[in-house]
Amino acid sequence: MSHTQTHLQTKPAGQAIPAIMSSADAIPPIGPASFDERAATWDSDLRRRVLTEDIAREIFATIPLAPDWRVLDYGCGTGALALHLLPRVREVVAADASTGMVAEVRRKHDALPPEDAARFHPLLLDLTNTPPPFSQGFNFIVASLVIHHVKNIPALLAVFQKLLLPGGHLVIVEWSNAADPDEYLAHPKLKPAVLGFAPDELANLAVKALEPAGAAWRTINYFQRDDDTVSPAFLLRIKRHPRTVCSAASCSQNG
Ligand SMILES: C[S@@+](CC[C@H](N)C(=O)[O-])C[C@H]1O[C@@H](n2cnc3c(N)ncnc32)[C@H](O)[C@@H]1O
Repeated sequence: MSHTQTHLQTKPAGQAIPAIMSSADAIPPIGPASFDERAATWDSDLRRRVLTEDIAREIFATIPLAPDWRVLDYGCGTGALALHLLPRVREVVAADASTGMVAEVRRKHDALPPEDAARFHPLLLDLTNTPPPFSQGFNFIVASLVIHHVKNIPALLAVFQKLLLPGGHLVIVEWSNAADPDEYLAHPKLKPAVLGFAPDELANLAVKALEPAGAAWRTINYFQRDDDTVSPAFLLRIKRHPRTVCSAASCSQNG
């Protein structure tokens, strides 16, 4: 599938996707260490590059990235998406729990011109077992295809809530439980903690996690291909309320 064959379409939340989350409890989850050995060849997969470009395009179209913004790409892998974002914001922290992945991010960091390298921060970090090491919050947090590796998702989302500045945006990209895992699992014997999400359920979970700060709105996008098939991935956007707290029920979708 080429870059130009894929584009995004927005559908109403929950439409045509069963709202049931299937969990792979019985199967040992992949740990960050299992990514170490794959890090060096990660970027050579064309499907990954196409999806990363689609995600970046959707973010550019929908998130008002600004030159004074601080961005966290959590579970950044080799930092491909983080580097797409860097030219549009003040600084990007590219964090991942895999030493192999972070080594790749550092290699890319070292190849940047000094003025860009100074704004790009590779970081070995696992927020599921380490307190956030940041002294400032973020205007934008993106977690692309990492949540399904996390056992206690509400706990991680609660950390994101604390890190997100008022009016900040959270984007989560995940695999849909409507998809066949064979379509997206690179290593069929290695199963993630969660095997596909009901998009609406994950959206509700994220809105609930933002409750202490208030969620202004949420949207779910699906990556629809030109051949009328839908990509197994979906993109969830949530905006933290700029000032006052509002309940999920009373917040408008576009406010
Ligand atoms: C499927 S890759 C996605 C990489 C990249 N975000 C992308 O969209 O291509 C999942 C990444 O999440 C990282 N990861 C898994 N568990 C993590 C955790 N608890 N904290 C941070 N990163 C984690 C892995 O090391 C891996 O780089």
